[in-house]
Amino acid sequence: MSPEEASAPQPRASGIAPDARTVLERCDVLAAVSSSSTGLTRVYLSPEHARVNELAGRWMEQAGMTTWLDAAGNQRGRYEGREPGAPALLLGSHLDTVPDAGRYDGMLGVLLAIAVVERLSAAGIRLPFAVEVLAFGDEEGTRFGTALLGSRAVAGTWDDAWWQLVDSEGVSLRDAFVAFGLDPEAVGDAAPPRGSVIGYLETHIEQGPYLEEADRALAVVSSIAGARRFELTMTGVAGHAGGVPFHRRHDALAGASEVVLAVERIARDAGCIATVGRLEAFPGGVNVIPGLVEFSLDLRAEHDDRRDEVWAAIEAAAARTCVERGLVFAAHETHSAPAVVASAALADAVRTGIVATGDAEPMTLFSKAGHDAMAIDALTDWAMLFVRCGNGGISHHPDETVTAADVAVALDAFEAAVRELAARHVSAETTA
Ligand code: GLV
Ligand code: MN
Ligand code: MN
Repeated sequence: MSPEEASAPQPRASGIAPDARTVLERCDVLAAVSSSSTGLTRVYLSPEHARVNELAGRWMEQAGMTTWLDAAGNQRGRYEGREPGAPALLLGSHLDTVPDAGRYDGMLGVLLAIAVVERLSAAGIRLPFAVEVLAFGDEEGTRFGTALLGSRAVAGTWDDAWWQLVDSEGVSLRDAFVAFGLDPEAVGDAAPPRGSVIGYLETHIEQGPYLEEADRALAVVSSIAGARRFELTMTGVAGHAGGVPFHRRHDALAGASEVVLAVERIARDAGCIATVGRLEAFPGGVNVIPGLVEFSLDLRAEHDDRRDEVWAAIEAAAARTCVERGLVFAAHETHSAPAVVASAALADAVRTGIVATGDAEPMTLFSKAGHDAMAIDALTDWAMLFVRCGNGGISHHPDETVTAADVAVALDAFEAAVRELAARHVSAETTA
């Protein structure tokens, strides 16, 4: 199905709920909306973002939801509960991607959330709370370097300093808002009113090998690693590759290379995770000693204090390199999100949902990948359901994959978790 076909009205026989096949077909439709002709790349507030919002909005409407674009560019839909205007259970994930992405990271969670609502509406079921689906516009931070912009707007933790962020073309976040048809002054409106939310559930591919290794389809998430990201520079002196002898060089790339290796060694020894994912040497001539290197650092750990100790050790290693080589090191922090822990009650509902699919003792996993739930932690309680991804759990890569059987069981478990929360809600109301 092409994006054009998907956006055409699609009559669905009433009472027929979507299955895993529909969800996977929709993943394929979204994957065709890319700014790159050679792979999937879709960033916040781009024309491709507008296009997938439109598609997701249409599917939300088909599922019986009222829809709107919120003040931060997130596509949202609401399925009323028994009483109109009741507080809502939020379900969601993101529609933006990393460069050259897979087609399930984020998108699968959005489409499963829509499918859960579509099942409820096809069966004519209204819950004791409303259900809102949120398709966040920025989780990855690919365009502006700072991640979770969509979910942070919803969480009410927007930072006005972000308006000055610029993308690789020099477009500021403020100008990108305006070009997308949004009013920067209204971003606070993306946050729901106090008391109108009862919790947040997110389904996401695992992005690691543990479910595949354990031969399991699903897991409950216990917590999410705290992350920090930095833009680093190493400055030396550019010069003639033939004319400058080694003892007179201040080669920024040789120094940055030592730091990259120190990052790996220090993080590994500390049981943390650290990645230099981008590095560029300037001026970039084959016969010129590099005078400047810009590189990125992504640091994660289950505990924030451990992660911060690793950063301090990396800074100390970089300082030693600078003394030895006559270089200057500088760091600019672009993103920081603390480690967060799932709500025991909501995680228990997710576990009950998995048990309902026949897995009597669901696996629990700690997430090393970041998720919108990290930002939503500031707004409300949250829990997550992980779905196995194949090929050793490869993700942030076009080979990302899931099976239809796993998506089917994830949809059943997600729906069962929502219904479990509804049952608990009713029993809490009757015993109150
Ligand atoms: C998001 O996918 C992240 O973990 O960086
Ligand atoms: Mn991702
Ligand atoms: Mn993701």
